[in-house]
Amino acid sequence: MSAPFRGVLIGCGFFARNHMHGWADAAGAEIVAVCDRDRAKAERFAADFAVPRLYTDAAAMLAAEQPDFVDVATTVESHRVLVELALAHGALTVCQKPFAETYADGKAMVDAAAAAGKPLVIHENFRWERPLMALKAELAAGAIGAPTFARLSFRHGYDVYANQPYLAKTERFAIMDVGLHLFDVDRFLLGDAADIHARTQSIKPGIAGEDAFIATIGHKSGVVSSVECSFASKIAPDPFPQTLVWLEGTEGTLEVTGDYRLRLHKGGRVTETDVEPPVPAWGERPWHAVQDSVAAFEAHVVDVLAGRAEPQPSGAHNLQTLAMALAAYRSAETGAAIDLADFIAGGAQ
Ligand SMILES: NC(=O)c1ccc[n+]([C@@H]2O[C@H](COP(=O)([O-])OP(=O)(O)OC[C@H]3O[C@@H](n4cnc5c(N)ncnc54)[C@H](O)[C@@H]3O)[C@@H](O)[C@H]2O)c1
Repeated sequence: MSAPFRGVLIGCGFFARNHMHGWADAAGAEIVAVCDRDRAKAERFAADFAVPRLYTDAAAMLAAEQPDFVDVATTVESHRVLVELALAHGALTVCQKPFAETYADGKAMVDAAAAAGKPLVIHENFRWERPLMALKAELAAGAIGAPTFARLSFRHGYDVYANQPYLAKTERFAIMDVGLHLFDVDRFLLGDAADIHARTQSIKPGIAGEDAFIATIGHKSGVVSSVECSFASKIAPDPFPQTLVWLEGTEGTLEVTGDYRLRLHKGGRVTETDVEPPVPAWGERPWHAVQDSVAAFEAHVVDVLAGRAEPQPSGAHNLQTLAMALAAYRSAETGAAIDLADFIAGGAQ
């Protein structure tokens, strides 16, 4: 067996714990060093995950380690600098979503990857969630014929602010946080979007940005989808962090329900499959679907490193998803549907 790919992780925060467990599970990769500008956090990760070396400066780590891949798990404001640094060191680079706050920053990162000749893979783990993978497989196998309509719904009241206090302070919240994931899944299922019309709501008092939105998306194929998200829904049992899907086609309908069932309506009958992911040994409910998807995504990154797969999704692909999110804000501000090609041609601001 060949030696494992050597990786480093930047940003030892809340979500990166899942990254580290996922890398430990991934055959063919090892994390040889971690970095956080807060030394105590880097020390904690190094101890918890038996990582041999730790740093507080990413540039120093990359110069010393010369890794095969870099996992950028910091929050968005630091992504461009760190991604460009990693690519300049010739590493395959993984970047958490949202990969950029502006289209210009995202484009610069995509251009840097092209110039370096190295893959830039965006950590869009929702499309790697088992229920959504199973749904996509049924769709691809022709179970419902040609798709005509989809509804994606992510509505819950889980206290996300406890683990991610920055979410309460960001002026662009629901669309840039979970909206990006949902738009990526929407494109994963139905292909590229042509236009988008969105409305936002600010429901919970004291939140700086929108905590709910709904977007209607026209796809280039002619399919229509509706994507909705709320962080302020009172539901029992709370479906967090599941994405519920209703997907109609010319021959039937597929449904992902809140109890991890994939239901196929066809020929006047319904057949049901259990698509609940296992709880990883290191994981816990209700996060297990997300944790399982992180491990699946990272196993995929190893495939990309080994030349066995193309990035799912790449930075170039995710740039269009970012454009959808930015266009959704423009739509919510103006009340108009936004043509994505025109929006991008105008700088996507
Ligand atoms: N894919 C998902 O399902 C999912 C879920 C939660 C969070 N996220 C994303 O993960 C990212 C991180 O979120 P989080 O909640 O873990 O944030 P966090 O604030 O808990 O962790 C970020 C860490 O990065 C460190 N950091 C920042 N800039 C740095 C730099 N230049 N060099 C070294 N260290 C630096 C900080 O000190 C902090 O420890 C965000 O982009 C968030 O949107 C994704």
